[in-house]
Amino acid sequence: MSLFITFEGPEGSGKSTQARYLYEYLQNQGYPAILTREPGGTPISDAVRRLVLDGQWTTMEPTTETLLFAAARAQLVGEVISPYLNLGGVVLCDRYADSTYAYQGYGLGRNLEELRTITLFATGGLLPHLTIYLDLPVEEGLERKRRQRDELRERRELQQLTLPLPHLPPPMPSDQEAWNRLDAREVAYHQRVRDGYMDLISADPERWRVFDARLERETLADQIVAAIVPFLSDVRRLNDER
Ligand code: TYD
Repeated sequence: MSLFITFEGPEGSGKSTQARYLYEYLQNQGYPAILTREPGGTPISDAVRRLVLDGQWTTMEPTTETLLFAAARAQLVGEVISPYLNLGGVVLCDRYADSTYAYQGYGLGRNLEELRTITLFATGGLLPHLTIYLDLPVEEGLERKRRQRDELRERRELQQLTLPLPHLPPPMPSDQEAWNRLDAREVAYHQRVRDGYMDLISADPERWRVFDARLERETLADQIVAAIVPFLSDVRRLNDER
């Protein structure tokens, strides 16, 4: 059987790091797994990502934004997620449709029923088996992200000083990765997003597992592994003779 796990959370919750830890755990255990993210994960979806997160588009309509996220998702589901699940693998996805409900629905006030219709159209109704939610107070998350952005700038300036060296540091994320058009929205927006997640969780508690993002990274990673282990019993490992 296949397994589809998504990661959700407000800005700066560290879910990308935790998704990577879980991916490494699965690989080490011999499970066929891929890690992808939204928006992105395919060349077309990455192109949409650049467009939708670009800070220069200050006049982007909420409807346009919603449809762009849905378009990126449709491509990712069709090209990567569904084919891999059909092979019996484990797919980890850093954000998925719940982000649209939380951000465009609760954050921007788009109608949730309409968002569900658009999502159904984009994904063919594909739902995660399990969603890991990393919770963090809004101010704390935004502060974490601001710090990451500032550290990145400093590292980039340092890199310029060391350019003539033969061994350059690994490529760094762009400014857009560190602080994008949506991060710049006001705190009240991010608060609505977090409250929205709480609503989504209480409407479907079976699917969600909630964790405290302020825990130490390793502790959190262990807790997440413990939560998914029961779901792995039906997934075939790569060297399984079954
Ligand atoms: P990213 O830099 O990947 O942020 P994070 O590390 O928090 O995931 O940017 C993705 C942004 O896009 C983030 O602010 C959440 C937002 N988003 C939506 O508003 N709607 C969506 O459907 C998705 C997938 C993301």
